[in-house]
Amino acid sequence: MDGPEEVKKHATKYEASNHTFFKKLFDNLEWRFQNSTFVDFGCGKGASLVYASELGFKKIIGIEFSSKLAKTAVDNMQKLSDQKGGKVNFEISNIDAAQYEIPSDADCFYFFNPFDSFILDKVLQNITRSLETKHRKILIVYLNAIHNEVIERYQFKKVKYLSPDELDIYYFGGAYVYTNV
Ligand SMILES: C[S@@+](CC[C@H](N)C(=O)[O-])C[C@H]1O[C@@H](n2cnc3c(N)ncnc32)[C@H](O)[C@@H]1O
Repeated sequence: MDGPEEVKKHATKYEASNHTFFKKLFDNLEWRFQNSTFVDFGCGKGASLVYASELGFKKIIGIEFSSKLAKTAVDNMQKLSDQKGGKVNFEISNIDAAQYEIPSDADCFYFFNPFDSFILDKVLQNITRSLETKHRKILIVYLNAIHNEVIERYQFKKVKYLSPDELDIYYFGGAYVYTNV
């Protein structure tokens, strides 16, 4: 994987989210997709961004530190948007997730075990700061949630937990969904 060594040492390797599982997880959440901005921290080639567009999110953001993966995500989302007459509102930032400033309308945050607790904690601090600036209801969806204890240090409430055995694909950390209100 390309990218700065000090970011890479905290990263997990690229693996795309599973489409069936993603759909099942989100279909069972009560959420107003059409008015919501989805952010995937560690978007890789953009698989979850494509799935999020199928759910009708208003805006879709991918954050990826590897420039090669980020470029592929842009190409994949551009292709999708072209097929839909330019109607997919997306943005990919080739940046370390810890450095990404959370937009004030971002409210659905997706993590597919992208990095260790060090980076996750920094992202959680950024989300918390963004909520202090502009209060809004948010969702945090964490798949293969190896470091969920980090999220639980903050003021977020668990609304769903799926154990590894309940998932179609075995993910050691299971899946958690949190909210703030
Ligand atoms: C397990 S993959 C998930 C890919 C994608 N989210 C999906 O669901 O299909 C984790 C991704 O996080 C990226 N990543 C790891 N650390 C990162 C960081 N600090 N900032 C941005 N991206 C990071 C990796 O390069 C990799 O593409």
